[in-house]
Amino acid sequence: MIIAIDGPAAAGKGTLARRIAQSLGLPYLDTGLLYRAVGRRVLDAGGNPADPIMATKAAEDLQEEDLDRSDLRGGPADKAASQVASIPGVRAALLAFQRQFGSRNGAVLDGRDIGTIIFPHADIKFFVTASLEARTIRRHAELLARGETVPLDVVRADLAARDDADAKRIAAPLKPARDAVMFDTSWLDADAAFVEAMALIDKRLNPGPRQGDLPA
Ligand code: DC
Repeated sequence: MIIAIDGPAAAGKGTLARRIAQSLGLPYLDTGLLYRAVGRRVLDAGGNPADPIMATKAAEDLQEEDLDRSDLRGGPADKAASQVASIPGVRAALLAFQRQFGSRNGAVLDGRDIGTIIFPHADIKFFVTASLEARTIRRHAELLARGETVPLDVVRADLAARDDADAKRIAAPLKPARDAVMFDTSWLDADAAFVEAMALIDKRLNPGPRQGDLPA
C-alpha cells in the first residue's frame, strides 16, 4: 500500500505521515530529507548546490545512510535543498530511489510531488495545507524548541519564499493531485488531523456496500 502526503513546508505533513505509518505498520519516508542530503553532499564537496552536474551526480550516488545525518536541517541545508530540488536531473535520480523504497513493502511518503509524479497510482493521496500564519507559528515554535531564536517575520518570509519556489519551479511544481483529499490543518491539531485521516483511509480501504448493491 502506498500513501502519498504532499503539501507546503510546515503544514503538518511529517507528523501526520509518521503517525499513519506507525499505525498501519508501514515504512515511512520523509522525501524532503533526500533533497537535503543531496544538497549536503554538494556542500561537503565544496560545490555549488545550483550546479546541475554536481547536484545530479550527488543524487545518483545517494545512499540510505545519508538520510541519518544530523546536519540536514537549518539555514544552509534548507537553502541547498531548495536549490537542488529545482534541478531535473536530481529529481530523476531521486524518483528511482523513492519508487524502490515504496515498492519493497509499501510505504507512507511525504513531500511535494508524491501523488503527482512519484506514485500517481497511490492508494490514497492527501494534500495537507495550512494558512501561512498557522505554518509560521508552528515553524517558529519548532525552531525555538531546537534552541534557534528566529524572529517571526523572518520565519514567515522564509516560508513564503519556499512556497513560491516550490510552486513556480518547472520541474515537478507543488500542486495537489487531481484525486488528492484536501486537508487544511490551520484549525486542526495533530491529534484531530490523525483521527480524520485514519477515518478516511479506513473508508477508502473498506468501502462497504455501494448504493444499489443487493443484500446477500
Ligand atoms: O519538506 P522539506 O522542507 O524537508 O523539503 C526540503 C526541500 O526539498 C524543499 O525546498 C522542497 C523540496 N522537496 C521537493 O522538491 N520535493 C519533495 N518530494 C520533497 C521536498
